[in-house]
Amino acid sequence: MSLHGKRVLLIVSGGIAAYKALELIRLLRGAGCGVTCVLSRSAAQFVTPLSVQALSESKVYTDLFSLTDESEMGHIQLSRAADLLVVAPASADLLARMAAGLADDLAATVLLATDKPVLVAPAMNVRMWQHPATVAAIATLVARGVQVVGPDEGPMACNEFGPGRLAEPPAILAAITARLAQAPGPLAGRHALVTSGPTHEPIDPVRYLANRSSGRQGHAIAAALAALGARVTLVSGPVTLPDPAGVAVRRVETAQQMLAACQAALPADIAVCAAAVADWRVATAASGKIKKSPGAPPLALELVANPDILATLAAAGPDRPRLVVGFAAETDALADNAAAKRTRKGCDWIVANDVSPQTGIMGGEENAVHLITATGTEDWPRLPKAEVAHRLAARIAAALA
Ligand SMILES: Cc1cc2nc3c(=O)[nH]c(=O)nc-3n(C[C@H](O)[C@H](O)[C@H](O)COP(=O)(O)O)c2cc1C
Repeated sequence: MSLHGKRVLLIVSGGIAAYKALELIRLLRGAGCGVTCVLSRSAAQFVTPLSVQALSESKVYTDLFSLTDESEMGHIQLSRAADLLVVAPASADLLARMAAGLADDLAATVLLATDKPVLVAPAMNVRMWQHPATVAAIATLVARGVQVVGPDEGPMACNEFGPGRLAEPPAILAAITARLAQAPGPLAGRHALVTSGPTHEPIDPVRYLANRSSGRQGHAIAAALAALGARVTLVSGPVTLPDPAGVAVRRVETAQQMLAACQAALPADIAVCAAAVADWRVATAASGKIKKSPGAPPLALELVANPDILATLAAAGPDRPRLVVGFAAETDALADNAAAKRTRKGCDWIVANDVSPQTGIMGGEENAVHLITATGTEDWPRLPKAEVAHRLAARIAAALA
């Protein structure tokens, strides 16, 4: 998509991945987007202002106390002249400063002074990313409406492996494009929480209980709600799908983690619980790998009930989303079971689908659903999951209009 006429203020902070910001600038310029760059106080240790300036074809700003810059532009104007502020890579340090509301260099100051949407693409060592301080900073920023892209998982410059790699520049460009393309759709100003995928419930460090959910339907719903202008938080169990563009993704493994991530994402106007959450978990997961030994009695796993995420979100209270939508995956008496589930869980709508093996729906590309509301049941034809998602998003927008 062309970004002609759009302007991005790209803030580069100090990390090994800063070199990839050069590629992002190139992609943005190639799409016709105007790019002005600010380097954080340590970014110039990793990438030269000259390279950034040459690629962006625009003056590079680094100094909060530059009399020249203040006279010609000023940190306030700089923060307002763009359609979108993008921080890529976003260091742990700058994320923490943003969350704390600090304004101790030009980058942090423009981020505090802006009235424009902000998108961050974090990049750091896996332990820095998983440190409670960074987790809390990200949660604070997301709650304020900052959009997070990545990080990706993989081998890192520090020879470790895990989440923390900067999202690839084309993926950041896609998120920027989606964000800039967002016309004020019917869900603009609404926050939607979507769950997707299966959960993995550990048996021991190497084994887990899971199900066949692919996350395709939940991810498609997150994308469809974002396309209508909603700010979307997608809480996803383990899936192999790419993150939908323009959506803040929280990755979890277990049902307990999924509930905690959902509660941390509140308040929300809309909750769509499409994840196939395991009903049970192993009461006490073994801390070491369970060994098989010849002649041993059959192994028995004691299962205990997992928290009910849909019922918890649908429970009356100040944080209850205005519209709570659950999914019912059934193999028998679909409509009756789903209608009973709607009442039992206290949610507003149930999207019921038949997951009998012969339907090929669980893990497949298509879905045949029935929408059960307080006023009755609608039978939708068998459709691609993306189309089901668009129809559902449109119904949600109409219900909240
Ligand atoms: C070689 C080297 C690589 C670094 N890589 C990263 C990184 O990838 N992510 C990060 O958050 N910090 C990284 N750091 C630490 C930051 O540079 C440091 O926290 C700095 O204060 C961040 O400044 P900023 O807020 O201006 O970005 C690195 C430091 C060094 C010396």
